[in-house]
Amino acid sequence: TTAHFTVALDDRYFEIEKTFGEKGAYLAAQSHSAALHQVEEIIREEKISCDLQKIDGFLFRAENDSQDILTKEFEAARRAGLNDVSLVDKAPLEFFDTGTCLKFPRQLQLHPLKYLAGLAKAIVANGGKIYTNTHAIEVAGGNPARIKTKTGGTVNCKAVVVATNTPINDTLAIHTKQYAYRTYVHGFRVPVGSVPPGLYWDTSDPYHYVRLQQAPEHKPHVEGAPYEVLIVGGEDHKTGQNENPQACFDRLEQWTRDRFEMAQEILYSWSGQVLEPADGMAFLGHNPLDRKNVYVITGDSGNGMTHCTIGAIIIRDQILGIQNPWESLYNPSRVKLRSLGNYLRENTNMAAQYGDWFTGPNISALENLKDDEGMVVRDGLEKIAAYRNESGNLKMFSAVCPHLGGVVRWNSSEKSFDCPCHGSRFDCNGKVIEGPANSDLKEVTDEHAMNQGEVRVRDKPFFRLKLPELGFE
Ligand code: FES
Repeated sequence: TTAHFTVALDDRYFEIEKTFGEKGAYLAAQSHSAALHQVEEIIREEKISCDLQKIDGFLFRAENDSQDILTKEFEAARRAGLNDVSLVDKAPLEFFDTGTCLKFPRQLQLHPLKYLAGLAKAIVANGGKIYTNTHAIEVAGGNPARIKTKTGGTVNCKAVVVATNTPINDTLAIHTKQYAYRTYVHGFRVPVGSVPPGLYWDTSDPYHYVRLQQAPEHKPHVEGAPYEVLIVGGEDHKTGQNENPQACFDRLEQWTRDRFEMAQEILYSWSGQVLEPADGMAFLGHNPLDRKNVYVITGDSGNGMTHCTIGAIIIRDQILGIQNPWESLYNPSRVKLRSLGNYLRENTNMAAQYGDWFTGPNISALENLKDDEGMVVRDGLEKIAAYRNESGNLKMFSAVCPHLGGVVRWNSSEKSFDCPCHGSRFDCNGKVIEGPANSDLKEVTDEHAMNQGEVRVRDKPFFRLKLPELGFE
């Protein structure tokens, strides 16, 4: 996370109005504002020291966007009750003329791990218990709700909240309504004071965002010069659907250097995963087609810190039986006809990914596989995910995603196998690291492969999808 909390929506208030009406846009603004207040309150009450800063956010027009996009968003934000949002001539950046901007005053940023540590401490101090390294493999609602763990244990409880970025307890209900994207981030060294603190976003789709971070305490100076870190993100694409992730990093670097002349060397680079809901709003509340005491928090778009706080407020109220005014806006069971175009486009794209069953290089291509690289090959009707480690040893797995039988693809920047259908990810040793899949790529022995000291998995194609699970009501 880049750890900002904001009331600005990357799906735009004027678009939310079209889908959810003026009242929906108003509730969106109200819930986002309330999340910011809630975070401040928690930090104050629990005395969490997490470098909290109140800073202004500035939305500026991307080159290809129409002139009136900011005016439309300004008017919609005002209608939604954000009365302190204003149109200003430019962002306070002397070196880069953003042109007219929409200013969102008093947004928040903080150090996410310090905040998380403070929350964990408060939970434990209030009698809560936190178990890490406990892999939940099955979630079943009821009285009591039961969670089976990988090591054979069962947790009984009154309510379960599945907050795993994308739910691991749904087959399709949510996964046809939200879509996994990879997003890229660089941290550049910049001289102290050279960039005014603020949150900066452009209107492109996907958008670029910028913020400033103090140098880490454990290494405050590089070569003796005080510095700060300029964090710049963007260049998103659908997970598993880009063969050259390095090009995304390169474009992001160029975008930054074209605008922030003080950006020096890149200190950090990483990519993350965001879930984009079809209709622009997160899914926070009761899990669709499930018992009443199972809840999900997902579809956070690029705004996970704010959304997880809104989700926590809604689900707390639902567990306690308190009516929450935002419940229906974020209801995970909703299907909005107005977002049907996006829904069909994304799901057609998803279905097309199953074509990988019939394409790709033959297994003989593995001869040319370099150390610390992976690839997916075809062996007759079977698909094999192969990784050659740094010592030159080849490992092979089924390339069949355990979620719904998509064929994974190699991600050369993260050294992972990513599923292009719903975004499950597996490390180079086949271990699941991101849902909706909740188990590893299978490892079984194959006589031929064993003769070569290799491990191989063979799986049958999986094409059957159950229509009632699509989430239509
Ligand atoms: Fe759904 Fe792979 S994530 S098939």
